[in-house]
Amino acid sequence: MPIVIVVGAQWGDEGKGKLVDVLTERADFVARYQGGHNAGHTVVIKDEKFVLHLIPSGVLHKNTVCVIGNGVVVEPRALLEEMEGLRRKGIGISDNLRISRSAHLIMPYHLALDLANEQALGKKCIGTTGRGIGPTYIDKMARCGIRVGDLLNPGLFREKLALNVKKINLLMKNLYQSRGFSAGRIFDEYMEYGGKLRKHIADTDVILNEAAAAGKNILLEGAQGTLLDIDHGTYPYVTSSNAVAGGACTGVGMGPTRISRVLGIVKAYTTRVGSGPFPTEILDAVGEDIRARGGEFGATTGRPRRCGWLDTVVLRHAVMINGLSGVAMTKLDILDGLKKIKICTAYKHGGKTYHHFPKDIEVLEKCTPVYEEMDGWTASTLGIRQFSKLPLKARAYIRRIEELIGVRADFISTGRKRDELITIRKQF
Ligand code: GDP
Ligand code: IMO
Ligand code: MG
Repeated sequence: MPIVIVVGAQWGDEGKGKLVDVLTERADFVARYQGGHNAGHTVVIKDEKFVLHLIPSGVLHKNTVCVIGNGVVVEPRALLEEMEGLRRKGIGISDNLRISRSAHLIMPYHLALDLANEQALGKKCIGTTGRGIGPTYIDKMARCGIRVGDLLNPGLFREKLALNVKKINLLMKNLYQSRGFSAGRIFDEYMEYGGKLRKHIADTDVILNEAAAAGKNILLEGAQGTLLDIDHGTYPYVTSSNAVAGGACTGVGMGPTRISRVLGIVKAYTTRVGSGPFPTEILDAVGEDIRARGGEFGATTGRPRRCGWLDTVVLRHAVMINGLSGVAMTKLDILDGLKKIKICTAYKHGGKTYHHFPKDIEVLEKCTPVYEEMDGWTASTLGIRQFSKLPLKARAYIRRIEELIGVRADFISTGRKRDELITIRKQF
């Protein structure tokens, strides 16, 4: 009956999708708790690749119920397209998908606002995925958002939409010299989506809490990562939701006393997409080499990911903020053959050494990482399934990281596929 949270420990794209897929084998329910279709979670089964954006990465297991929690923001057209894409690949979506009535809807004007905001910021832009995520969460907090459940109440939907469109059109005309939006057209479009999604809309908080009471195994899947969290990340270069473990409780409606474990997903090096500070970024050929080996291009936008060495200042922050009970280290195989591997243990700035993650963006932008250098390993780790079979130096790398962050590795991932994994401690 454990309830396990899977959370990104860096800037996203750590390999959450792969781990969620593997862990779902033993889960009855898997629920996304925040973010939207800005996420891109990749699952590779045999030689087939699936990229999930809104639907939990557990969907590829037939008997698991997938939940889109209240903390998620839902773009209905993107969701329907994702469902259709899965159906075309032979993955049935029916009663196994439940969408919270209370999740907020991404509207066409949110997308326009996201792009307009980015344009207005110019060089200081956040580098968002352009999916309308920020403006949707703004409306949620401003208490004028439109929710998934409103799709089932045309009168209320029309009323809320009219108010929002009136306000948005004023803004679009005056600030961005744009023609604005037609409430009528959006209404018709969204009612059609509502018709198609109706049977999936539910009180998912009740479903999940009843499942927990009945002793079911539940996985709560985070999107993005700790350093992209609105409160605990590199603000303002973050996403607009609580990606950290705490967000899982509010994002599905389960109390903290229910949670059994929090598994942090840690890539064996670091990547980041979009703007913002990244102390261990490698700006020379070594960084390019890691990007090429790791195939580090965004699963959602295709943008090249910035690459850097593993940063244990970041990881200690993730351990603390999420209360990690263990980590899963992914993409170890990508480091195969590197002569030397660096691990960042602290930052230096203005004569001070930082062991804790600094909150000051200027410190993060200007600090110098303090590195420890370790020997790399020459043998391939691809597909290794037992810790004892790893090259000695790869084991030393993992052990040193565990020491520096104070948490044990529960899994080591050694490839993209399901069985390319070392399991040290099962979660269910
Ligand atoms: P997520 O957003 O955290 O789910 O991660 P992404 O799917 O965006 O990016 C992770 C990428 O790494 C995907 O292409 C995965 O298929 C791949 N991946 C995950 N684990 C491993 C691993 O251990 N080794 C290798 N080579 N690739 C992996
Ligand atoms: P997964 O779940 C990596 C980044 C964007 C941008 C910032 C804000 O696949 O790990 P947003 O569109 O959310 O307002 O953009 O957050 N970002 C991600 N980076 N992985 C993700 O998701 C991301 N989702 C958003 O690049 O810097
Ligand atoms: Mg991703």
